[in-house]
Amino acid sequence: MRIFSGKIMSYNLLKGKRGLIFGALNDRSIAWKVAERTYEEGAAFVLTNTPVSIRLGDIDKLAEKCNTIVIPADATKIEDLENLVQKGVEHLGGKFDFVLHSIGMSPNVRKGRMYDDLDYGYLQQTLDISAISFHKVLQTCRKFDAIGDWGSVVALSYIAAQRTLYGYNDMADAKAMLESIARSFGYIYGREKNIRINTVSQSPTMTTAGSGVMGLDNLMDFAERMSPLGNATAEECADFIITLFSDLTRKVTMQNLYHDGGYSSMGMSFQAMNIYNEGLEYQDVKNDKSKKKKK
Ligand SMILES: NC(=O)c1ccc[n+]([C@@H]2O[C@H](COP(=O)([O-])OP(=O)(O)OC[C@H]3O[C@@H](n4cnc5c(N)ncnc54)[C@H](O)[C@@H]3O)[C@@H](O)[C@H]2O)c1
Repeated sequence: MRIFSGKIMSYNLLKGKRGLIFGALNDRSIAWKVAERTYEEGAAFVLTNTPVSIRLGDIDKLAEKCNTIVIPADATKIEDLENLVQKGVEHLGGKFDFVLHSIGMSPNVRKGRMYDDLDYGYLQQTLDISAISFHKVLQTCRKFDAIGDWGSVVALSYIAAQRTLYGYNDMADAKAMLESIARSFGYIYGREKNIRINTVSQSPTMTTAGSGVMGLDNLMDFAERMSPLGNATAEECADFIITLFSDLTRKVTMQNLYHDGGYSSMGMSFQAMNIYNEGLEYQDVKNDKSKKKKK
């Protein structure tokens, strides 16, 4: 739904579609914004998160707003996923047309263990929660034939899968694996049922998971300066993802799609270079504004 000249507009892009959405913790979560947008576009879906996140977060409010239910599941546990998939399909009265995997967590990041001093037990957990869970979701859905023909699956990724970013730690390895799973399973599910699987590589975003990333404020400032269109917000990410859930993108699969305002194609921008020119006049080229930049 968008407001144009005072009128509320929905494109009805997802009318009649059913879905499963992982990862809405609070109203800053990317999955929260996706749920709101898919609802506005006419879809019905079930929400899920871990029991502890359901207790500590606000997902029940989102469920009420979107007229749906929350089915608890730890995405690393097969028995939870089997229960979720079966109950979800039953509640919606049919197979899923779309699935969103918006899950990430690193105990090494949480406990301040740097990349050259990883706890390997934590690393296993990082990979299980943030990457292997994607495989588990897909394999469970396939086992119960829970995704309909021409369905669409999206997982959230980050450019640390391709480029090294200070402080992103073992989440970089998890994202590389996540993107690989999208390709490997995309081949199987594509050839069998025309189901497409993609990852969306999003700009740094101020969410609960995002704020665990070392120096997120500085990272966001740098990415903003480097991106000709500026950082993409969580709302803009949701706008993009509804197009991937819609019938307008049926031949897009096994891709990692950058949703980052152009950041991934940049090497150096005027605005980023300018922060090194201490004392010089700072010019905001894009907006044609000038101001003194203090370091
Ligand atoms: N925030 C950013 O800067 C950014 C940028 C690019 C990609 N992403 C990715 O977007 C996704 C969503 O993160 P977010 O930024 O919205 O933060 P968020 O903290 O709102 O969402 C992370 C979610 O993962 C869930 N989760 C953790 N462990 C789980 C488990 N075992 N089973 C099921 N769910 C579990 C949490 O409960 C939470 O809802 C993540 O994959 C993240 O890596 C975030």
